[in-house]
Amino acid sequence: MTFEKWMRESLDRVETALEHFLPGTDIAPAKLHDAMRYAALGGGKRVRPLLCHAAGELTGASAHAVETASAALEMIHVYSLVHDDMPAMDDDALRRGKPTVHVQYDEATALLVGDALQSQAFIALTTAGNGLNDAQQAALVRELALASGSIGMAGGQAIDLESVGRKLSRPELETMHRKKTGALLRASVRMGALAGATPDAAALKALDDYSAAVGLAFQVVDDILDVIADSATLGKTAGKDAKDDKPTYVSIIGLDASRELAAQLSRDAHAALEPFGARAQRLAELADLVVNRVH
Ligand code: IPE
Ligand code: IPE
Ligand code: MG
Ligand code: MG
Ligand code: MG
Repeated sequence: MTFEKWMRESLDRVETALEHFLPGTDIAPAKLHDAMRYAALGGGKRVRPLLCHAAGELTGASAHAVETASAALEMIHVYSLVHDDMPAMDDDALRRGKPTVHVQYDEATALLVGDALQSQAFIALTTAGNGLNDAQQAALVRELALASGSIGMAGGQAIDLESVGRKLSRPELETMHRKKTGALLRASVRMGALAGATPDAAALKALDDYSAAVGLAFQVVDDILDVIADSATLGKTAGKDAKDDKPTYVSIIGLDASRELAAQLSRDAHAALEPFGARAQRLAELADLVVNRVH
């Protein structure tokens, strides 16, 4: 199967799984459910679900198990975006080519959309008949909670906010990026893998090395795109990092060195996959997608 066809099929499956796990607008409170669906459905690159699908294929996870895990990951990611865009954080008006949730609805709704999506992710992971056995449910809940909490995404967001206007050292910047973005990407790979036959320690280590490289590369490229792309292509406001004096790879090491770093991380990701050979083809293709993307 070509990568393009695999992507299309995976994206369809993610959309269907999200549709399944998000409460309908026929259920009260209709406005909250409408806003959750507005934020989560029909947009985004779905990189975390794709990584989860690819890792699940490597360990023989069932389609059903991987769909559950990827829907949970995307709901956490969307929650992080909704909150990231709020006035107290990045104060952005455009996301995925549409007005942000607090602009389209209101701030209180945006806050609650994030809260409720977070809960919904854990509901999805622990719903009977979701394709995951009891041990897998517990393992995936823990992976997702660790990746999204204060030692992961939320912690990285806190560092991001307290660093505005400060010149971070290179190690501080890397730590921030690994937490705010890398942690959930790493969890995407681990959750996909753990949804199948439990990988041995060496395989998990190789997958961790892969996702550490891809996770950091993802945010380095996000920083680059903020500078070189336009808002229409990005579907979010371009040039926002410099305007807000955010610490980014571009502001700290410059554009050319950021590009070289992304290329090096891509090579690291490919090297980490070597033990898997052709079985890791999709993960290899996704590493290229992350580094070469234009939005
Ligand atoms: C944007 O994430 C926020 C970061 C963590 C860099 P994505 O670039 O994955 O956003 P969507 O899901 O495609 O909209
Ligand atoms: C956001 O980083 C990371 C999370 C949402 C966890 P950014 O603030 O750089 O993301 P964008 O550029 O708004 O998508
Ligand atoms: Mg931010
Ligand atoms: Mg932002
Ligand atoms: Mg950004």
